[in-house]
Amino acid sequence: MQRWSASDRLKRIATKPQSWFILALLVLLTVPHYGDAIKQPEFLTNVLTNLGVTRHAFERILYLAPIVWASFLFGWRGAVLTSTVALGCMLPRAIFISPSPLDAILETSAVFILGNVLAIGFESLRRERQRRTELEVTQHELAASEQRYRALFENAHDAIWVQDMEGNILAANEATAKLTGYAVDNLARMNVTDFLSQEGLELARKIRHQLLEGETLQGAYDQSIIKKDRTEALLRLSSNLLHQDGEPVVIQHIARDITEEKRLHENLRFYLHQVTRAQEEERKRISLELHDETIQALVVLSRQLDELASNGRNISDESRLCLEELREQTNNTMQGVRRLSQDLRPAALDRLGLLAALERLATDTSEYSGIATSINVVGSERRLDEEVELVLFRITQEALRNVWRHSQATKAEIMVQFEEDGTRITIRDNGKGFHTPQLMGDLAKDGKLGLAGMEERARLVGGSLKVQSQPCIGTTLTVELPI
Ligand SMILES: Nc1ncnc2c1ncn2[C@@H]1O[C@H](COP(=O)(O)OP(=O)(O)OP(=O)(O)O)[C@@H](O)[C@H]1O
Ligand SMILES: [Mg+2]
Repeated sequence: MQRWSASDRLKRIATKPQSWFILALLVLLTVPHYGDAIKQPEFLTNVLTNLGVTRHAFERILYLAPIVWASFLFGWRGAVLTSTVALGCMLPRAIFISPSPLDAILETSAVFILGNVLAIGFESLRRERQRRTELEVTQHELAASEQRYRALFENAHDAIWVQDMEGNILAANEATAKLTGYAVDNLARMNVTDFLSQEGLELARKIRHQLLEGETLQGAYDQSIIKKDRTEALLRLSSNLLHQDGEPVVIQHIARDITEEKRLHENLRFYLHQVTRAQEEERKRISLELHDETIQALVVLSRQLDELASNGRNISDESRLCLEELREQTNNTMQGVRRLSQDLRPAALDRLGLLAALERLATDTSEYSGIATSINVVGSERRLDEEVELVLFRITQEALRNVWRHSQATKAEIMVQFEEDGTRITIRDNGKGFHTPQLMGDLAKDGKLGLAGMEERARLVGGSLKVQSQPCIGTTLTVELPI
């Protein structure tokens, strides 16, 4: 609030036209007070005589008018100033002119005191009125704001309820009733434990503890509840602790039913799982067929060509050269098919396990891409579920393919860590890096399916994928699989 100094206040009073009206009134009262020659109207003289009041006593009473006026305009300070000026106007007459100075001084003092008392009274009345008006305005605003909040609360699409620190529900909206199956009135008599399983109760206690400790919750969390019809619903909840006078009093929850969403998601994941599995089966079948049929046929063809070129009679030198060329081409094709078969389903993975397959992958990558690819192992090897090993292999394979296609790296490293709490594979390159998107799914929209597929594969077996990349420094991709 702005604080005024005494001189500032005087300046403020002096610049207001009303101050000059008050001064004029004081002058107007003082002139007849001293001018005995100025005649009073006859009716007034009669009235005053009847009341037993002298003319000058009446004139002194009239000085109350500017004092009260000043108190209305400028508060008690204005009244004190005006009454002091009025005192200055009245006193010379009371002391030097009045035939009974004592009475006159007493009257003058009474006017001064009464004026100030009235001013203080008016001031407190004014303040009280102002306080009441402010209170009314605040109450009005409060009522309007409560009405707005109530409308928001009652019409919200999300379920909102407020509980005390013992879990008793204090208020719940229509959406909560719809979600739980209980009427709003019933809800107000219930405790949250009525909806929670043992597991849900433990989570609720943990959240309450976190809120009381002042920890910020990491966004919304999932909680399952038992509805009135005894079916289960999964909610995505946001909880807030509200305080009054520094004490925690209530917890406010906002919840959305995600049962259906979760079910769809699980169905989709199941479908994806099945598709991935079928794809792997198909790859395995094609790989075996290539290995057992095509490669074998090419081996036989190459041998026959070799035989013909070495032992064939009546063959011109030119034809022999041609046969050798054909054998060379057959061998190259055989290598290509072998690589393809290997790519589709590395035999080492099924026979010797993940590490052997990754070692083979590193050697192959170095060969075909020219990128020096090494493999490091930390911890002692642990055989994992067949499907999990396949997922880890596929992610590494796809990551190395990306290194080859996009990174312009000269080195790549595969690090396999067998830790107590899980398995981690890190694929690092020293290439040009890239700007990682917030969601891998964003890449899939542009037809780039590698990283999104890797993330999805990791999730399918309960793992997670992390991609860190810095332009000009390189890319590190980590897949983590907890035990
Ligand atoms: N190791 C890397 N170094 C540099 N850029 C990379 C690396 N890995 C991925 N990227 C960038 O991320 C993008 C997305 O990779 P992603 O594997 O999802 O798709 P893609 O390789 O382009 O296509 P797809 O894998 O579907 O054939 C790439 O286009 C590339 O720009
Ligand atoms: Mg890719």
